[in-house]
Amino acid sequence: MSTSPFQRIGVVGSGAMGRGIAQLFVQSGIAVRLHDNNAAAVGSAIAGLAEVFARQVEKGRMSAEAAAAARARLEPADALSALADCDLVVEAIVERLDTKRELFVQLEAIVADDAVLATNTSSLSVTAIAAACRRPQRVAGLHFFNPVPLMKVVEVVDGMRTDPSVVERLAALTRLTGHLAVVAQDTPGFIVNHAGRGFGTEALKALGEGVADIATIDRILREQVGFDGQGFKLGPFELFDLTGLDVSQPVMESIYRQFYDEPRFRPSVIAAQRLAAGLTGRKAGEGFYRYPDGRQQASPEAPPPTVAVRPPVWVAPGPRAAMLREAVAALQGVVHDTGQPGEHALVLVAPLGLDASAAAAAAGLPAARTVAVDTLFPIAPGRCKRRVLMPTPATRPEYRDAAHALFATDGTPVSMLRDSPGFVAQRVLAMIVSIGTEIAQQRIASAADIDTAVRTGLGYPLGPLAMGDALGAATVLEILGNLHRLTGDPRYRPGGWLRRRAQLGLSLLHED
Ligand SMILES: NC(=O)c1ccc[n+]([C@@H]2O[C@H](COP(=O)([O-])OP(=O)(O)OC[C@H]3O[C@@H](n4cnc5c(N)ncnc54)[C@H](O)[C@@H]3O)[C@@H](O)[C@H]2O)c1
Repeated sequence: MSTSPFQRIGVVGSGAMGRGIAQLFVQSGIAVRLHDNNAAAVGSAIAGLAEVFARQVEKGRMSAEAAAAARARLEPADALSALADCDLVVEAIVERLDTKRELFVQLEAIVADDAVLATNTSSLSVTAIAAACRRPQRVAGLHFFNPVPLMKVVEVVDGMRTDPSVVERLAALTRLTGHLAVVAQDTPGFIVNHAGRGFGTEALKALGEGVADIATIDRILREQVGFDGQGFKLGPFELFDLTGLDVSQPVMESIYRQFYDEPRFRPSVIAAQRLAAGLTGRKAGEGFYRYPDGRQQASPEAPPPTVAVRPPVWVAPGPRAAMLREAVAALQGVVHDTGQPGEHALVLVAPLGLDASAAAAAAGLPAARTVAVDTLFPIAPGRCKRRVLMPTPATRPEYRDAAHALFATDGTPVSMLRDSPGFVAQRVLAMIVSIGTEIAQQRIASAADIDTAVRTGLGYPLGPLAMGDALGAATVLEILGNLHRLTGDPRYRPGGWLRRRAQLGLSLLHED
């Protein structure tokens, strides 16, 4: 085992985070002194950790000797002055700037001049905390995720005046514990909480526009999206319910405000109203879903319509026409290969970032018989878990139902959206990639660290930059460009990092 850059670590705050941080360090062979201004909290944290170690021994995950050694490395610090010989102090107290600044001033008067001070803040400026110190160069962020032992990523936050050697030593310490260290410039949300804005906020925007209901949006993002079989484990509304809107809504508001009303992060009135109504999620028994006995109430899907006569299908020309034609043929549909759609044909289009109406109008197609199909992910039988369709407002019900029945022929569920640009998956994924590439553009972190942080911190199947590469940077650029053009909303404006790499055929992970 490599030697630790720190010999004795003080942890201040023994709540959910401080306790997990202490556990990680003592298990990595480093002595820890744990302090809390509530003495009882330290006692219960140490007793709780002793139980954790005992359970690990029972489960065979830790030897009795290792558990005893870890426990012996953990000492209570009754007073802050007991941290005098710590060469690193990690703060995990209440999330208040004035309280944290006061603590850092007190700590500076106690520890050695070369000791490092780190904050576990999620939402405050590390630079603003450091500014209270005589030596701000020794202050950095060390942002763990909850639960600390299981969430294997740590953001090492580089404040405006942090010494580079402090960042390096904290990154080395993180690696020593077996966690992944990613380095972030001190900016709102650092990497993970910044990059995580796309998923939920865009889903809320789609909900607000009446594109689909809550359960449909969740199903699409869980089932339609798949990168080598890996999708999102939870839909955005299921995730909001798990986290609690009382936690998520203030984060959405704060990131938006801290970036001076950047439209990409604009929060939703729906979330604000639901929070005001107390519909915070699982813990309240009701959020976007109901939890009558602690379990999410099912939202059954209507069966596909039965259709007496299936019209022939005409596929509009375009780069995705072959994919559509093959899928229709595999689903026993009759494809007419004429130059123009026949009089009774169902017309299929495969837009990127456009709605069905715009796609029909641009090609002079009969809107009354047009249905759009999302081809962002494979739609062939056996290669998808869900297909997503969208009629125009003028599409006649018999053509909408014919398309629905056709694409459900092999038993694959179909989601039928109201006409809107970018379906659901296209707009949500394009926003995740857009925000991820902007983080790279702003040099908040390296491209590789952005992807590592998001995969590990948010559990996404791919980081935003690899996700953009898998979809095709040019495809993402087209989706965003069309969304921007059709809606006029600057949240969809594509950034320079994405545009340049798409134009040059480079990977989105390619650094300048
Ligand atoms: N909970 C999370 O998911 C999470 C994730 C990442 C970061 N964080 C951040 O970690 C920090 C702690 O969060 P938590 O969830 O562990 O909170 P918590 O409420 O569980 O624990 C905070 C502890 O700090 C103690 N405390 C408060 N003021 C103090 C002071 N002045 N001096 C000494 N002790 C003091 C409290 O008695 C309490 O035991 C916050 O900055 C939070 O934003 C939390």
